[in-house]
Amino acid sequence: MAAESGDKWILTVTAQTPTNIAVIKYWGKRHEELILPINDSISVTLDPDHLCTTTSVAVSPAFTHDRMWLNGKEVSLSGDRFQNCLRELRSRASDVEDEKKGIKISKKDWEKLRLHIVSFNNFPTAAGLASSAAGLACLVFSLANLMNVKEDHSKLSAIARQGSGSACRSLFGGFAKWIMGKEENGSDSIAVQLADEKHWDDLVIIIAVVSSRQKETSSTSGMRDTVETSMLLQHRAKEVVPKRVKQMEEAIEKRDFPSFARLACADSNQFHAVCLDTLPPIFYMNDTSHKIISCVEKWNRHEGTPQVAYTFDAGPNAVLISHNRKTAALLLQRLLFLFPPQSDTDLDSYVIGDKTILKDAG
Ligand code: ADP
Ligand code: DP6
Ligand code: CO
Repeated sequence: MAAESGDKWILTVTAQTPTNIAVIKYWGKRHEELILPINDSISVTLDPDHLCTTTSVAVSPAFTHDRMWLNGKEVSLSGDRFQNCLRELRSRASDVEDEKKGIKISKKDWEKLRLHIVSFNNFPTAAGLASSAAGLACLVFSLANLMNVKEDHSKLSAIARQGSGSACRSLFGGFAKWIMGKEENGSDSIAVQLADEKHWDDLVIIIAVVSSRQKETSSTSGMRDTVETSMLLQHRAKEVVPKRVKQMEEAIEKRDFPSFARLACADSNQFHAVCLDTLPPIFYMNDTSHKIISCVEKWNRHEGTPQVAYTFDAGPNAVLISHNRKTAALLLQRLLFLFPPQSDTDLDSYVIGDKTILKDAG
């Protein structure tokens, strides 16, 4: 394994991956372990300077177990999702050589070598801001680099998908679509880029962090309950989303903001409606989230055409997408008026960003 330096060597790679926010939501699996969805979904990838995961992965013959630390605390890697990703990556690893350090790892060594993984999210974890998307995409991307996995981003997306469904879309900047696929083994359930980060660069995304607390119902268990109990979900997946996905692709291609906004808001609202249609009902949004929706709806109606789109993932935090910088400034003004700092209705924070590309800091 190591040519000259005995067992003392350590090889590391660090990568940074932004989160992505779905504008047509994934909610519901047809296969739990492979993580195969019941509908296509579309997302926008955020700027990694604002909401992102940074993960360092290391390999050394001195390591005796695979271990991982998330936000400073050790977490178990024994779960199926991590194990599936690690297995997929190990089976695709190639030879690695670092002449300067005198390290030579052959393809078959990867089965025996153990890994250490350290990951940080610079935004609330498990609070409905898609930490699992940035986290698992970053894990797969950094390990693929370390292990010299020679696959394109779509192939890697099928591995990230097995860590967390939404993660497959975070391997692309700009707009991405997760194609649900037809194959039983999930080989065609992959993400593709619809448009790169430059395509619609006047959009501004403002995230109003209503609460950074961990949610009570994880996305995984919430959508499992919805699949088991909601009748509305079948209608959504079969009748509504396929049409919306086509319309959303068209809106993105034409940079048609009014259509984009109408579709994104409607899809967010229907996703929360299926949560309510679940037994027991799931409430991801709270009064503050509802107040933000009312503010945007009134504003859009007053202008006659949408100025701002809102979308809420599995949590109370608002993702607000404005047409351009001018409307973003007006939106911030309105939010600060509605939720004055240091008042009872204060929001936790704001994050302003735009779309960007996957950044490899390794
Ligand atoms: P969210 O809305 O934040 O995506 P989920 O319930 O979908 O919430 O997923 C949260 C879980 O994702 C965490 O409990 C953790 O297991 C996993 N996760 C979050 N960040 C990371 C990370 N950086 N690396 C690995 N796993 C992560
Ligand atoms: C509401 O990808 O977190 O954010 O696949 O079980 O890990 P698992 O769930 P996850 O679900 C995301 C749901 C969503 C919508 C979306 O991102 O499309
Ligand atoms: Co998630």
